[in-house]
Amino acid sequence: MEIFTEITALRAFLSSQKTSNKSIGFVPTMGALHDGHLTLIKASKQQNDLTVCSIFVNPTQFNNPNDLANYPKTLEQDTRLLRSVGCEVLFCPSKEDIYPHPPVIRLSFGDLEHIMEGKFRPGHFSGVAQVVAKLLHIVEPDHAYFGQKDFQQLKIVETLVSELNFNVSIKHIPTQREPDGLAMSSRNMRLNQTQRQQAVIFYKSLLLAKKRLSEGVSFDKIQEEVLALFETQPGVKLEYLEIADVANLTSKPRVTADAVLLIAGYVGEVRLIDNLLLTE
Ligand code: PAF
Repeated sequence: MEIFTEITALRAFLSSQKTSNKSIGFVPTMGALHDGHLTLIKASKQQNDLTVCSIFVNPTQFNNPNDLANYPKTLEQDTRLLRSVGCEVLFCPSKEDIYPHPPVIRLSFGDLEHIMEGKFRPGHFSGVAQVVAKLLHIVEPDHAYFGQKDFQQLKIVETLVSELNFNVSIKHIPTQREPDGLAMSSRNMRLNQTQRQQAVIFYKSLLLAKKRLSEGVSFDKIQEEVLALFETQPGVKLEYLEIADVANLTSKPRVTADAVLLIAGYVGEVRLIDNLLLTE
């Protein structure tokens, strides 16, 4: 695996690969890799000649400094995992290379950036879009791969790419889950044993909500039931459970087949999110 820490060196390498007509798949990450990320790498490897994975913990998408400070950093293990699945290129730039001076351009996304994750993490999506735009310009991939676990992020990236005419096709890959249903996430590494068991409440709540919807129960009542479920367990906190249209997340679904359930909250200090398409 080729490893690059500088934009200029990566660009020089990739342009030599592009002249021999190699297709490029790109998997942007913040490291602390798990099987969910490896599924993205494997999908990219199947569909492209060369796969580039980036590891960069992007400071501009963290509204909480503690969250940034505590974000797990496991570069050695990440490198081993990437090698084990045959990733061809790893790009791990420094903060100074990506942000040589404080960025002044802000991207905004209307209602999409103010609901759910945007409401609880103000500025988060502007930061995500800023770094994704930079990385897409640097790598210029044919395909870029994102996990469905960050469903709202996926919608932001799709909006970015379509409104600004990026020449890349965005691929989404279904959420990978642990055997008990917990969505794989780098943040799970921060859970202790008890918290790890409690964390399955997010997936259980999504399944409960889906079942109650199929029984014709109103969504307001379902939100109350899920809140009550969270209140039975000390140390867990529900931030939101919402239902939205898969197409844009900003409107209520007309029929349940168009709907996605989204949930977020805390187990101890660790913030977790999950979602479930009602067609799943
Ligand atoms: O999903 C992530 O890991 C990050 O938000 C991303 C897309 C790599 C941007 O920093």
